[in-house]
Amino acid sequence: MIVCHCRGTSDREIRRAVRNGAATLPEVARACGAGSACGGCVEAVHEVMASERGAFEPHRLDIELARAR
Ligand code: FES
Repeated sequence: MIVCHCRGTSDREIRRAVRNGAATLPEVARACGAGSACGGCVEAVHEVMASERGAFEPHRLDIELARAR
């Protein structure tokens, strides 16, 4: 499933980036491009990241969203 339409990045690519050590949105963006353009997919990218880590961390989402603004 495509999560980031600007970069054409799938949830599988985001999950792979997390498994390879990307822990923040900028790290995921560097690894696979997701979230690096308009920012409209940031919440969805975070959901995939949290799912891959096995736990939803809403405080991290708030921090990342604040940084993205
Ligand atoms: S949809 Fe992901 S950066 Fe635009």
